[in-house]
Amino acid sequence: MEASRRDFISIGIGALGAVGGLGALYALVRVMLEPSEIAALGAKTEVDVSKIQPLQVRVTSWKGKTLFVIRLPKDFSPEGYSLKEGALNSKGKRNYEILKGHDVFALVGVCTHLGCIPLWKPQGADVSKGKPVFHCPCHGGIYTPYGDVITGPPPRPLFIPPQKLEGDKLTVGVEGFVKELI
Ligand code: FES
Repeated sequence: MEASRRDFISIGIGALGAVGGLGALYALVRVMLEPSEIAALGAKTEVDVSKIQPLQVRVTSWKGKTLFVIRLPKDFSPEGYSLKEGALNSKGKRNYEILKGHDVFALVGVCTHLGCIPLWKPQGADVSKGKPVFHCPCHGGIYTPYGDVITGPPPRPLFIPPQKLEGDKLTVGVEGFVKELI
């Protein structure tokens, strides 16, 4: 009986010590990181794009959302897609106007209709005459590889996150050739 009481007391003291330790660790992290740095944790995604082949899409995440990293062939032509009228990004433009000249870039992989994850179809669809597309399986939204809407209910293109390319490293969440979420 006495032994189990002693055990109980020593477990209690150990637990208090652990809680105190966690508190001290939290205080240390708070001291080492400014609030803006705490907010920025997880806000950056780095991708080594050297392993992504032309017409491949790497699926990863940024800020908890699906992220597509796309590599297009160097000679890829954006011509030949017939785009949905009025489906423009927050700059009032087509995504292609922001991304032209880049064969590696990232898009937020969330359909702008009701949030499903579009599928990459490098073989294309009837409506794109075989040119590669993203196809949202929920209600049939179809986007170009730049995220511009071809057809279906999506009201605007896929979002383009801020991103920077340095050599083979694409960093999403920092200012670069795209400076802000568009
Ligand atoms: Fe993508 Fe509706 S959620 S078309």
